[in-house]
Amino acid sequence: MSIGILYDRSETDELGIRLTAEELGINLVYIPFRKVAINLDEDGYSIKSKGKNYSKIIEDVSVVLNRAQSKNRRFVAVNVLEALGKNVINPSLVEYICFSKLRTLLHFWKGGIRTPRTVYVPCDSHEPMAGGGEIRNEETIADLIQQELGNVSIVIKPDAGTHGKNVRLAKERTDLLTILGDTEPSIINPVGVLAQKLVQKWFYDLRIIVTKESGNVPYCHPTALARAGFKDFRTNTFLGNMVFGVKLPIQIRSTAVKCGETIGKDSKAWLLAFDAMINAGEDKISDDDYIKAEFKKLQPFFDEVKNVKGNEAKKRNFSSWNKKLEEAFQTYKSQEAYENVKKIIEENTERNRHNILFHEANACPEFWEQTRLAAGINLAVPLLKCAQSIIESD
Ligand SMILES: Nc1ncnc2c1ncn2[C@@H]1O[C@H](COP(=O)(O)OP(=O)(O)OP(=O)(O)O)[C@@H](O)[C@H]1O
Ligand SMILES: [Mg+2]
Repeated sequence: MSIGILYDRSETDELGIRLTAEELGINLVYIPFRKVAINLDEDGYSIKSKGKNYSKIIEDVSVVLNRAQSKNRRFVAVNVLEALGKNVINPSLVEYICFSKLRTLLHFWKGGIRTPRTVYVPCDSHEPMAGGGEIRNEETIADLIQQELGNVSIVIKPDAGTHGKNVRLAKERTDLLTILGDTEPSIINPVGVLAQKLVQKWFYDLRIIVTKESGNVPYCHPTALARAGFKDFRTNTFLGNMVFGVKLPIQIRSTAVKCGETIGKDSKAWLLAFDAMINAGEDKISDDDYIKAEFKKLQPFFDEVKNVKGNEAKKRNFSSWNKKLEEAFQTYKSQEAYENVKKIIEENTERNRHNILFHEANACPEFWEQTRLAAGINLAVPLLKCAQSIIESD
């Protein structure tokens, strides 16, 4: 039996998984998920592109790494694959929970994991009326949110959003009304409004990797990716923030394992990336100005990393582009300023290890360009190991 990799578009993560599989001597079977016909009839199924029939190859695959890009596509893909009798990383139950931030928060809450204060209002800000016109609900929604959270800074986010898109901060009621007015039911926010109290994190947040192989207990990687910057309250990498590989305190690792168990349930194998924030409040062990100055020193080196990342050649000659990326990253990481900021994050995390709030689980994390190089975790390895563990245990 072999391992499959399904995707619609090949990005560096998928190229990285293929390269890693090659290095490990693992045969990886490609399953396309875009211009193909998935056909079901009384005799069985077939999956064919215009020029190729993939059905036979797929027959021999027992585990599939689901790397379809969007949450929607990934969820459809896992449903199809599981119906065809395949094991999938991640399984549909995991994808289903991770699809929605609210669902994830509900599971965390049930599992006793601390999360940011969250209020969900199942009402849209404007609703069309039968006879034309619309009902405006911003005031009521704002009242409901503030009734719970008070007159504090509030974050509004789309339930199934990614890359920090439309995650917005309301410092006052007028901002809140404007932001609520801009919300619209959509594929990434089907119903209502998800609001959170602004967590008093410092200048960074964390992405923590937990993996579970069949027959083993879940494992939290000892390092995490810290995304850091002062530009915006959103510190995620998509917005161009810098990244640091940081050591995690043991207590945080065991909470992250609990998060994994809460989301992974009884599934044989899974891989998850949790987003977490340290509610450090005023516990700042260093001056903001000092850290900003260190960022400034690092900027040209991080710009060079971004420059290589943006290089068109990456897909044409992946392995030579990859070498360039690794070199640029190494230069960035070897700066004294990198070490200084990293130490501050590690110390702040250690001091506030009991003030960690988990708020999201990502089922298909990007990793090749940041997590691998900053935190030293090539997720392709645990992904492939998870798949192998299922084959071995079956
Ligand atoms: N309640 C909050 N308090 C403070 N900051 C927050 C809060 N929620 C989100 N953020 C910040 O906004 C960023 C984006 O939020 P979130 O992770 O919810 O959005 P996203 O669209 O899933 O982004 P990504 O796909 O990069 O994870 C987080 O990395 C964090 O820095
Ligand atoms: Mg997130």
